[in-house]
Amino acid sequence: MTPRPHESSGAAHGTTQVNIARQRRFWDRNARSWDHHAGDSPGLVKVVERVVAEGAPAAGERVVDLGCGSGQLALRIAPRVASVVAVDVSPAMIRLLEQNSRAAGIENVEGRAVPIEHLDLEPGSVDLVVSNYVLHHLRDEDKAAAVRQAAAWLRPGGRLVVGDMMFGRGGDARDRAIIASKVSLMVRKGPGGWWRIMKNAGRFLFRVQERPVSMDRWVAMFRDAGLVEVRAVAVVNEAAVVVGHKAASSS
Ligand SMILES: C[S@@+](CC[C@H](N)C(=O)[O-])C[C@H]1O[C@@H](n2cnc3c(N)ncnc32)[C@H](O)[C@@H]1O
Repeated sequence: MTPRPHESSGAAHGTTQVNIARQRRFWDRNARSWDHHAGDSPGLVKVVERVVAEGAPAAGERVVDLGCGSGQLALRIAPRVASVVAVDVSPAMIRLLEQNSRAAGIENVEGRAVPIEHLDLEPGSVDLVVSNYVLHHLRDEDKAAAVRQAAAWLRPGGRLVVGDMMFGRGGDARDRAIIASKVSLMVRKGPGGWWRIMKNAGRFLFRVQERPVSMDRWVAMFRDAGLVEVRAVAVVNEAAVVVGHKAASSS
């Protein structure tokens, strides 16, 4: 396998690897809780539904879900398509995905415990790439590399649909409204909430666990990867969905 562009220098590779290891540890510890509670959040459910609606998965299609968790998106899409390759950095999440697939009688989902940054697929072999609430965990250069890779995996006319928390660091009115609403929610929770404000402010400022970027940055990454008909839709609170298509022909 040829090295990916962001893996060419030792330092960049190291930092990517550090993030991958951190994400794996965090999500292995929290997999059960995510599996149990993801369906309780109406906001998150709305974003999953919007990703499915925008992706419009169709009979016979080959789909890839980047950061599949325990199957919130993959298991919704699987009954409508030929196959889903569901990828997650956390082996614990993939075990839960497999349990949930069996429990639902779904047989066309292949779980792979591999980081998105290392995923290697045949160019032009995929109809639809989806991802939900995952890519803000990647470093910014790895987000852009993931979008470029996804564009390469798509067949002409294929689609990339990313749902995620999308906001910048207060540069526009939407950013400021999102940050203010998060702070006010935590303030209302009393001292426990204040502690979370400090913790989340640290994470946000130092971009350790969560590194959201704005809808405009996402649109630019999709266009830079050569995708066309790119559009972003705000869904609920901080969450938005970005959709792009691989040009039907390069001529
Ligand atoms: C917030 S959960 C979302 C799970 C699922 N997509 C959903 O909609 O509920 C984030 C997921 O991203 C996965 N993840 C984080 N970094 C990753 C990476 N570099 N490669 C693959 N998966 C990653 C985590 O293991 C976790 O399952």
